[in-house]
Amino acid sequence: MKPDVLVVGPMYPATIEDLDREFTTHKLWLASDRTALIASCAERVRAIATTAFPNDGADAALIGALPKLEIISSFGVGVDPIDLEAARRRNVIVTNTPAVMNECVADLAIGLIIALARRLCEGDRYVRAGGWLKSPLPPAQKVSRKRLGIVGLGRIGHAIARRAAGFDMSIAYHNRRPIPQSPFAYHAQLVDLAKDCDFLVVATPGGKDTFHLVDERVMRALGPRGILVNVARGSVVDEQALVNCLQQGALGGAALDVFEHEPKVPEALLAMQNVVLQPHLGSGTHETRAAMGKLVLDNLIAHFEGKPPLTPVR
Ligand code: 8YV
Repeated sequence: MKPDVLVVGPMYPATIEDLDREFTTHKLWLASDRTALIASCAERVRAIATTAFPNDGADAALIGALPKLEIISSFGVGVDPIDLEAARRRNVIVTNTPAVMNECVADLAIGLIIALARRLCEGDRYVRAGGWLKSPLPPAQKVSRKRLGIVGLGRIGHAIARRAAGFDMSIAYHNRRPIPQSPFAYHAQLVDLAKDCDFLVVATPGGKDTFHLVDERVMRALGPRGILVNVARGSVVDEQALVNCLQQGALGGAALDVFEHEPKVPEALLAMQNVVLQPHLGSGTHETRAAMGKLVLDNLIAHFEGKPPLTPVR
């Protein structure tokens, strides 16, 4: 008998095929009546396969609705949309897909810095609209040798720092606590880091501890030539304050892969030239999504073979 798995959101297509092969799957995102689907399989579901997208995860109500639940295997590193406390109370194991996505998220962070500073998207729009036939695009901002501030120097933050070193950038960071022996300058106050850098990249986990960590004060400290890049979670940046700062010219620009209410993006941002907008695709390459999917599957298989999961969230 194959174990029953509730699949909350779409993943890499090959991962869905693998899940279908190994387990009896129930696909929540395809259901027209979610409550009815959950009720129809609740007594059999032993695992949830979910994603890190804000509307997927697994909240306390979903966990509570599945009395036989043993494990939640998430496709993504961020666990903010999973109620870890509810899972712990029920002794439900939670796994995620760390490490395999560091490179792609870091690549995107550097790509966003270059795209915004060198006005790549703007230049593309300019050429397509025939603007170049009339006049050249005004100069952009240099990327190499600039000061990079990293908010959240974890695994992804370090991968960003390694790439930035190749551009001869000076690197500083803000974490709750300094990292012993780190070669990078530490700022205990985020506002001080923002004052001291040209590009501020957000790479910290989401959740209540980092909610609106990047607020109006931080954006104003980054200043009219400063660039904010967010590859972490929309919740970390106060989006209304971001719109205000950009409209007032208090912040130079923003390159965003994530949004507070994604997939909804504030109307005001759509009209601005000094923003680059991406649809949450930090990990969105074939290679990385396949590796994430393999971990989702391997964690479930290990668990049902009575082995410890490969990448549990502690
Ligand atoms: C994914 C993510 O895009 O890992 C995370 O925390 O937000 C993303 O990598 C998402 O889980 C894809 O479904």
